[in-house]
Amino acid sequence: MTAINEIDGLVADPPDTAMLPESAQILLMATSKWVAQSLYVAAKLGIADLLADGPQTPAELATATGTHSRSLHRILRAVASVGVFAEDTEGRYGQTPLSEYLRDGIPGSLRQAVIFFGEDFTWRPYGQILETVRTGVPVFNQINAVPDMFAYMGEHPESQEIFDGAMLALSGDSISDITERHNFAEAGKVVDIGGGQGFLISEILSANPAVSAILFDQASVLDGAVTAEFGDRVELVAGSFFETVPGGGDTYILKSVLHDWNDDQCTDILGRVREAIGDRPDARVLVIEAVVPQLNGWGFAKFMDVEMMVNVGGVERTEVEWRELFTRAGFVLDEIVEINPPNSILVGRPA
Ligand SMILES: C[S@@+](CC[C@H](N)C(=O)[O-])C[C@H]1O[C@@H](n2cnc3c(N)ncnc32)[C@H](O)[C@@H]1O
Repeated sequence: MTAINEIDGLVADPPDTAMLPESAQILLMATSKWVAQSLYVAAKLGIADLLADGPQTPAELATATGTHSRSLHRILRAVASVGVFAEDTEGRYGQTPLSEYLRDGIPGSLRQAVIFFGEDFTWRPYGQILETVRTGVPVFNQINAVPDMFAYMGEHPESQEIFDGAMLALSGDSISDITERHNFAEAGKVVDIGGGQGFLISEILSANPAVSAILFDQASVLDGAVTAEFGDRVELVAGSFFETVPGGGDTYILKSVLHDWNDDQCTDILGRVREAIGDRPDARVLVIEAVVPQLNGWGFAKFMDVEMMVNVGGVERTEVEWRELFTRAGFVLDEIVEINPPNSILVGRPA
């Protein structure tokens, strides 16, 4: 992160929640929407960037953001109580270590992810989460009359943009971890399936001069590809991984793709990769996903799984579930390399 601008040591000191009385712990859990949506407002309005050069009063921030001063002040006071921004003795708000994460475009920024999780299109389905639990179908699809979230985003470019920004923010640290923890020097032709705008493939190509690549995704996503600097070392191929995926690859990557889909759909997607590999025992598939901790262990993936259930129709999986899925698609799960939590690299070879 860039320089942290603490003001006069006034950073809030929220309690260690595990030390609170049990009733208070439950109330905090039950009202966590208060925190999530207040954080969303601060992120959406770009407050942290407005404070990059120093503290400002709520009135100044309200003028800059076109908002109601007293209401904005109440939001700032609330999030400052959990360490995001801090108020000084002159009533001005400034940056704290936590609010630095709400700045845009700096390494490690989570602003776009905070916006994605709080935005109306992903937030509204939670009002009907019970419906999902009753039916097993993501209520997102029902509310928006679409087959899935990707179809919705195809019709709503502004949501697609928010989603793409969130994906980049959430995978920021993993990308360098992946290239450091897996040796791509002899990966040959790397095919990134559902590779988005190509941030991972760009990192791989930068670090490994002998590697060439195919970036495979939906046409609307490839329109924003960031791979131009690699010229003909990378080919952009548009299509659907439910139909066919490009052949001729030595290493196939599926990063944060399979958790978007149910088991049958994942078997289809991995099955298309298996078909593309054909009779090539040396080819590998790298699935980069979370592995859900067993029993009661804490894991970001356990609530991300709820998000998948409500909004996407996907699943976060345990090691046992991953092994079953690989087997069903004709692969053997050879190795699991833990990288930046919650992700791991699951390395598969043709069975
Ligand atoms: C969660 S994103 C992951 C993107 C990227 N791999 C990353 O880790 O940032 C899932 C990707 O799958 C793509 N996708 C969804 N449905 C697809 C389909 N039927 N065929 C090809 N790509 C698809 C989306 O466009 C999106 O880029």
